Amino acid sequence: MRVVVTGGLGAVGSRVVQQLRSQDHDAVVASRRTGVDVATGEGLEAMLEDAEAVVHTADSASPRARSLREITVGGTRRVAEAAARAPRRPHLVTLSIVGCAEVPYVYYRAKAAADEAVLASEASATVVAATQFHSLAAYFARLGRIGPVVLGLRGMRIQPVEIDWVAQRLAEIAVGQAPSDAVRGPDLTGPASFDVATISRLVAEHHGRRAPRPVALPAPGRTLGGFAGGAILPGPDAEVGGLPFAEWLAAQPVPLRGR
Ligand SMILES: NC(=O)c1ccc[n+]([C@@H]2O[C@H](COP(=O)([O-])OP(=O)(O)OC[C@H]3O[C@@H](n4cnc5c(N)ncnc54)[C@H](OP(=O)(O)O)[C@@H]3O)[C@@H](O)[C@H]2O)c1
Repeated sequence: MRVVVTGGLGAVGSRVVQQLRSQDHDAVVASRRTGVDVATGEGLEAMLEDAEAVVHTADSASPRARSLREITVGGTRRVAEAAARAPRRPHLVTLSIVGCAEVPYVYYRAKAAADEAVLASEASATVVAATQFHSLAAYFARLGRIGPVVLGLRGMRIQPVEIDWVAQRLAEIAVGQAPSDAVRGPDLTGPASFDVATISRLVAEHHGRRAPRPVALPAPGRTLGGFAGGAILPGPDAEVGGLPFAEWLAAQPVPLRGR
């Protein structure tokens, strides 16, 4: 099957491409480096000419309002509209974040608006959401560490997921049965949830360091309160899969880099 992967050179998109090619699908990368800009629509229509499915993972790496408006929201809407008009009406699969509609954090608001744009479109589409990738959970644990302590929001838990498994599910859903209109697909999450202290301890041990002492910060307001209050945790119907955090971590280099 011919599958266009927007953001197909990015962290999750490149893995979707790998998954599809390993199943002998014709995976085509659509990103600015291959002449497709979802913020302007440049190259999009031509790229979707023969597409039977589209996995949309292109997104802005910047939290600036303009990028969020033009790429995260506008780009997703443009991809949905182009998919609806494309000759073979490809099955569009988009990737969102579990709980993004519940937390008024600026990036999450943009992701929720992007989901709504897809669901309101004429495309045959499946909106899949994932919890934070293991690498992001580990990044936040490093970010919150100050010397012997680690800062975290009181009560906050996170249920991270393996990025390769998310990519595998996106690929499977894309080549699977397409819905007649735009629907919400599964929430994807990893096998266990953690508090900040536990993730920080595991990350410290990975680096051969002593576990930091957790310092719990208050979480006032709807944004911090949403994060701390469990809004980004998966519900009981979420699909659980992929490597547990500790197994993923054991396979990572020391020191950990990036997010
Ligand atoms: N990180 C997490 O924990 C997590 C969890 C759940 C869901 N997600 C979602 O996963 C998605 C992908 O994340 P990622 O970490 O794979 O991102 P990434 O590594 O930054 O990749 C995004 C790709 O999008 C392309 N891109 C950016 N602007 C573009 C534009 N205007 N037109 C076309 N392509 C463009 C970039 O390639 P070019 O520079 O070549 O254009 C880049 O390779 C995001 O939507 C994110 O919300 C992430």
